[in-house]
Amino acid sequence: MKILENGGVFILETENTHYIMAVDSEGVLNHLHWGGKCPEEDYFSTYKPWERNSNHSARDLSKTEFIPYGGTVYRPVCFMATYPDGCREAVLTYKDFNISEDGDNFLLEIILEDKPYNLDVTLCYKLRENTDIIERFVKVNNNSYSLVVLNKISSGEFNLPSLRPYTSTNFNGAWAAEFRMESTVIKNGVLSYDSRKGGSNHTVNPVFILSQNADEKQGDVFFGALAWTGNFKTEISRDFAGRTRAVIGINDFDFSYNLHPGEEFITPSVFCGYAKGFSSMSNQMNSFATEYILPERYRKEPLPVLYNSWEATWFNVSSEGQQKLAELAADIGCELFVMDDGWFGQRKDDHAGLGDWYVNKKKFPEGLKPLIDKVKALGMRFGLWFEPEMVNPDSDLFRAHPEWAYHYKTRKASLLRNQLVLNLTREDVKEYVFKVMDDMLSEYDISYIKWDMNRAYSETGAENLENPQELWYRHVKAVYEIADRLKKKHADLQIECCASGGGRVDFGSLSHFDMVWTSDNTDPLDRLEIQHGFSLLYPIKCMRAWVTDTNRGSRPNDWDFRFNVTMQGSLSIGGNLLKYSEEELEIHRKYIAMYKEIRNTVQFGSFYRLANFKEDSIYATEYVDENQSVLFLCRGANTFFNSKFYHINLDGLDKDSQYKFEYEGKEAVFSGAYLMNVGLDFDMGGTLQSKIIVLKKA
Ligand code: DGJ
Repeated sequence: MKILENGGVFILETENTHYIMAVDSEGVLNHLHWGGKCPEEDYFSTYKPWERNSNHSARDLSKTEFIPYGGTVYRPVCFMATYPDGCREAVLTYKDFNISEDGDNFLLEIILEDKPYNLDVTLCYKLRENTDIIERFVKVNNNSYSLVVLNKISSGEFNLPSLRPYTSTNFNGAWAAEFRMESTVIKNGVLSYDSRKGGSNHTVNPVFILSQNADEKQGDVFFGALAWTGNFKTEISRDFAGRTRAVIGINDFDFSYNLHPGEEFITPSVFCGYAKGFSSMSNQMNSFATEYILPERYRKEPLPVLYNSWEATWFNVSSEGQQKLAELAADIGCELFVMDDGWFGQRKDDHAGLGDWYVNKKKFPEGLKPLIDKVKALGMRFGLWFEPEMVNPDSDLFRAHPEWAYHYKTRKASLLRNQLVLNLTREDVKEYVFKVMDDMLSEYDISYIKWDMNRAYSETGAENLENPQELWYRHVKAVYEIADRLKKKHADLQIECCASGGGRVDFGSLSHFDMVWTSDNTDPLDRLEIQHGFSLLYPIKCMRAWVTDTNRGSRPNDWDFRFNVTMQGSLSIGGNLLKYSEEELEIHRKYIAMYKEIRNTVQFGSFYRLANFKEDSIYATEYVDENQSVLFLCRGANTFFNSKFYHINLDGLDKDSQYKFEYEGKEAVFSGAYLMNVGLDFDMGGTLQSKIIVLKKA
């Protein structure tokens, strides 16, 4: 890992890649290369500064590192500003650079300036040991004596090397159908994915994945993931000369930001990388997240097996009912008991109570203490559900402070799930939210919060702000701030990020929250697809997955199948244990105990997608660490001729080691080389059969 500069050429060197930039004769920072390495001297000796030509706008076609709106640039830009004299164009030219070392990190800052306006735009590149992932972010400093309005400020522009079209992969999801992968070949024009809902969204995700001739094991894959839990925009464009670029960052839709004299604006980071094949991309991001992104306190610890009461009791929680569930949860091996929605205010259903974060005395006459004491006595930790950013019109909070929700005086507030969004950009609202949560955490022994968020914003009036278009940005920052402050004060607190399932899965939330609730859809067949999409860029460890009663009876999937699917992430239990037979509880005990044996491998090992329903009619995933490998096989619902046996080649094993496991009812030993190069047939019986095979390294 190193950073070099020589005559305006910058080389970022990671384990396996080079990222090269150079300043041209007009002072513009151009992009030269991203991908495999070459000898350094080659870059210095071959770089020819950009030269103007006279027909098409050469600047528009050039590969720039951070192109602003201005001059003859007509493609998606990274930066737009309005200056005090009314000028709406920016010219960013090279001013200086700085390389610093901070522990294991290297930081390159390339300072560009818009000279007449005394505005600095600093492009930051952070490199870390043992990874090819580069972190990029941008700082804008107003060194003038006047206000500058930022109209667009992206986190980075990315130029791809090949002139042939790239395939863009993102998602076409929905509530309960997150991470439905879609790929599109971009031959011309601009493909834009964005969120305007306030959060990062169920439908699309703040990432770009651009590939050529790629599958799991080979091909070129360029990717970037934005660490932002709010409105974002990804624009991928290809021009007539065949140049593909991606611009990613905070959405400029209904956004602007007043940058006062002396102030600085820092964009969210984008974590980007280049990989040979999708598997390498996923593994790079998986280990980068557990190494560097997740909140430090629990980064390296496996997540506990949790029980969540939502699907068992819905809003009908009571001290007695929860205690009964807790007894069974502890008995089957759960380590954490989370009481979901329904415990506060006048919460009977989703029409009332949000905002009133005091314990409902009818449901919990003696407060939460008896329940929490019981949970603790049973050897589990206790967690509680909140939806801190929301308010029901039918709540004490709204009756006292109707002005605390985003609103316009002339517009009727649109309800979604009967609730409104609190204006967290107001200091008093932010403090209220912090205080009510802090009070609960201080009064009770609560070490886990499920932080939910169940609606998109609307009527986003925020009279308190000098520039109300800052609210999208400021709201997200307030969420991060509250989460961070709570964690700082309550050192052992873990927070799960939920937004009607996976509506807030991004590396912004994963920098402040410890894990995510992946989806409200707990049907195992659907889940396989959702988990497949999730696993592309997000850490397996953070993927909460519940075994529930969902679709019991209507879709035939047995307990083995359900556990098989959920054990591929962070195993959790969400069904109504009170209704289960002793035999069913025993199945739970067996699998939870087994999960604890393989949890480190699943949550921290290398991860391989070996087969999927689209291509194979079976799902196969594999997790590998230095001690063992775990293979999950799930056969789909369709039947095909000759489809009883599935041939699987494993991956990621040590070719020279022997692996011992149960195969066809007997103990078998095969070399890693055989399992990877030759592979084995697995008898998957009929439809919806599943197997978990643990291969112990000898
Ligand atoms: C939506 C979440 O995704 C569910 O898990 C549950 O917490 C409900 N909200 C509660 O209202």
